[in-house]
This record gives sequence, C-alpha cells and structure tokens, in this order.
Amino acid sequence: MALSAVTSAVTTIGNLLTQEAIYLWGVEEQVDRLQTELKWMQRYLMDAETKQSKDEMIRLWVAEIRELAYDAEDVVEEFALKIGSENKGCLPSCIKTSACCLKEGWALHKTRSKIEKIIERINDLVRRLQAYGAKELKDREEESSSSTERRESRRPYPHIRDDNIVGLVDDTEGLVKVLTKESGCKVVTIWGMGGLGKTTLAKKIYHHRQVIDYFDHLAFVYVSQPCQKRNVWEDILSGFNTLDKVDRKIRDEALAEKLYNILGVKKCLVILDDIWISEAWDSLKPAFPVATGRHSNSKILLTSRNKGIVSDAEIRELKCLKEQESWELFQKIVFPQTGNIIGEEIKKLGENMVKHCVGLPLAIVVLGGILATKNNSLNEWQKISDNVKSYLKRGKNQVLGDVLALSYDDLPPYLRPCFLYLTHFPEDYMIDVDRLIQFWLAEGIVSSKQEERAVGKLRKMWRNLI
Ligand SMILES: Nc1ncnc2c1ncn2[C@@H]1O[C@H](COP(=O)(O)OP(=O)(O)OP(=O)(O)O)[C@@H](O)[C@H]1O
Ligand SMILES: [Mg+2]
Repeated sequence: MALSAVTSAVTTIGNLLTQEAIYLWGVEEQVDRLQTELKWMQRYLMDAETKQSKDEMIRLWVAEIRELAYDAEDVVEEFALKIGSENKGCLPSCIKTSACCLKEGWALHKTRSKIEKIIERINDLVRRLQAYGAKELKDREEESSSSTERRESRRPYPHIRDDNIVGLVDDTEGLVKVLTKESGCKVVTIWGMGGLGKTTLAKKIYHHRQVIDYFDHLAFVYVSQPCQKRNVWEDILSGFNTLDKVDRKIRDEALAEKLYNILGVKKCLVILDDIWISEAWDSLKPAFPVATGRHSNSKILLTSRNKGIVSDAEIRELKCLKEQESWELFQKIVFPQTGNIIGEEIKKLGENMVKHCVGLPLAIVVLGGILATKNNSLNEWQKISDNVKSYLKRGKNQVLGDVLALSYDDLPPYLRPCFLYLTHFPEDYMIDVDRLIQFWLAEGIVSSKQEERAVGKLRKMWRNLI
C-alpha cells in the first residue's frame, strides 16, 4: 500500500498547491519541492509494483517510502489546516495578513524545517536506492517483464485455424454484414473480457470467404505492448503484401502516408488484435483515413477488453457461451475423437464442472485440457471436480491466473490497490458500491478532501475496474 500512501500525499499536496495555495502562503516553495520529490517516489513505486520485487531490501525501502509519504502529508495538511482554521470565514487577504504575522513565527519556521527534513530523508533514500538500484535496474531491463512474457505467450497466429470453435454464428454473421455491406470507412470493436473469444472471432472473420472476396487487402496484426506504431504499420503493409524493402528505411511519416493512401484508394480490412489503451490508437491513427474523415471503403476491426478505445467505433459486445455451447466445447476438448462423454457418472461430473466455467471459453479449454489427460478415470474426475476452482486457476501454464494478471498489470497504478481490496470480499458476494467506496476512503486507499467530488470520481474508478 506504499503506492497509495504516496499517491494520496501527492494528490493532497497537489490539491492544496493548486486550489488552496493561500493556506500554504510562506511555505509554497518547500511544499512544491516536496511534491516533486514525492512524484519521483511515486514513479519508482509504480515501477517496483509492476516488477513485484521479492527483494527484501527493496521491500524495506518501499515501507520507508510509505512512512515518508504519511509524514509529508501530515506536515503539509497540519499547516494548511492551522492557517485555514485560524482564518475561517475571512477573505484571502486576511489569511495572507495572518500568514504574514506567522511568517517569522514558530509555525512557519517549524513547518519549513519539517519539510526540509522530509526532503532530506527522501534525498538520502534516493541516493541509497540509486547506489543499490543501478545494477538492479539494469538487470531488469535485460529481462523482459513478466507481463510482456504473459502477453507474448498468448500471441495469436492468424494462420493457425481453430477447429473446435462453437457458437459465434450470429456474431460472425453480424460482423461480416457490417464489414462488407456498409460503405464508407468504419471502426468496429469486438469487446469483452479476457478469454471470451475476441481473437477467435477476429480470426474467424479474417478467414471468412465473403470477407476475403470483398476486400482487396487484409491484414491481421497483433498489437504488442507497448504499442510500437512503426511495427504495426509495417505489419499491416506486410499483411497487404505491399511492404517494400525501402519501406523499412523510410521515415515514420512517409510510412504512415503510404499506408494512409493505400487504405484510401483500396478496400482494405485491418484487424488490430488486442489493443488496450486509447493512446495506442492515437499513435496509430495518422495512418488511417477514418481518423481524418477522408472517404475510404476500408474497415478497421479491433479486439479489446476496453470499450472506449475509439470514441466513435461500433461496439460488438461478445457474450459468454450458452450452456449448450459450453458443453459442446468441453466435449470437443475432452474427447477429440468421439466428441462424446462416456458413462453417466462422468457426464454428471463434467456438467457440474462446466457450470463453474460460467461460459468463459478459456476456462472450458483449460479444464477440458486437464481432464483430457485423465483417461476417463472416474476417480481422477472426482478429484478434479472436488477442486475445480483451484484446478482452473493453476491449469495449463496458469493461463487463467495469467489472464487476470494481465488485466491487473494493465490497470493504472492508482487503481491497483482498489482492485486488490476486492479480495477482502467472499466469492460471489454482492458488493455495494457505496459501501466499497466508503471502505476505500476509510482505509486511505484513495483519499480526497472534497468528498462529494471524490465519490463521483470513485464511482468512475469502480466502472473502470469492472
Ligand atoms: N467460441 C469458441 N469456441 C471454441 N473455443 C473458443 C471460443 N472462443 C474462445 N475459444 C478458446 O478460448 C481461448 C481464449 O480465446 P481468445 O484468445 O480468443 O480470447 P480473447 O477474448 O481474445 O482473450 P484476451 O482478451 O486475453 O485476448 C482460446 O483457446 C480459444 O481457442
Ligand atoms: Mg485476444
């Protein structure tokens, strides 16, 4: 929770500096410097959280940072409150006058020296971190982060067709219609949670006969993290078979222009798989006519866990599999040869386990993959059925946990403590959002002076989390 402590301090001090600076009259300079130092700490902690350091030394420093943040917030708040309460109801000029009186006084002096001491402690910590961290950070740069590895392990290969697809009939039909029947340029987003089948559906579209016949060029590009616009543009041109050797050497602007012109005159379908943040789209869009309003008959199809990547995109929400579809997929995975469950008892256990997957294809694939190796042993099935939830979690390459971890890694750092707080609630518990927000505030996971505005903001945070 060190990050939330520092974030809270940065926010409080930032608010005071911008909105209630009069209460800090005489110490603004120190408070400003303090805020800069705290922001540095914040960046360090965001990094440390992402890398989830197991190093004991770093853990101790993180605890030290948390204490520093609490102290910093206390000192500044205490001073502002003192000035504020002494001048309650007065005009700002009165406050200034009062602050002037205090200028040579003990309060001002004490506050300044307290802030200086905190800054000194921060500087000392930074020196120690840097001395220790130089090697650490270098090593970390060399190893790819676990989040990147997780993403990479789930990178789709569009040429590999999935034989076990169930359902998706209406989704496919609807998408093919939008992409091939409607004229003009358009962005369509396949939206849904991790493991729901967005990439599977996008691949289906990419291989659909009607789609292939309709478009002059098609490209299926996986958007890696962080999004490298140049790579994405090159991959699109490569997918169109229009990437020349010289294109690899031209400037970004020229490459974007080339793609822009092709998309403008030809009918192209660009599928951008797994785009997570609107900043990624912003960096890519100079190459897309749709973003400038130029007429074109090219279409862009995105897959994303985030609905709001492109503001005027058509959203196609992917739903969970129906019960019958879940069962069909399960059978295909567990009994690839016959497609049929053998034995009533095993069938019952299977049906019960599939229910736990709540229509999430990834969960069914993971569970089915485990059961497929158990040679129809009733005993083994019973064991798995008894522990289905833990099996799902630690299944093939921890895939479900990884999908969740990916979601966690991609949360903005200030939302991560809020997300972790949800582990306090029992499974399937109905969470009252207002109560949750009160808990967040009470625990200091988020903080705010102006409650009313804060609650609106927190409600937004909650929507971002789910
Ligand atoms: N309709 C389906 N029929 C059969 N298998 C499916 C279906 N949908 C998804 N799957 C399987 O579920 C797994 C996850 O699917 P997919 O990768 O398409 O999910 P996703 O929504 O793209 O997830 P992410 O957000 O993590 O990228 C894959 O193994 C895929 O083959
Ligand atoms: Mg995907």
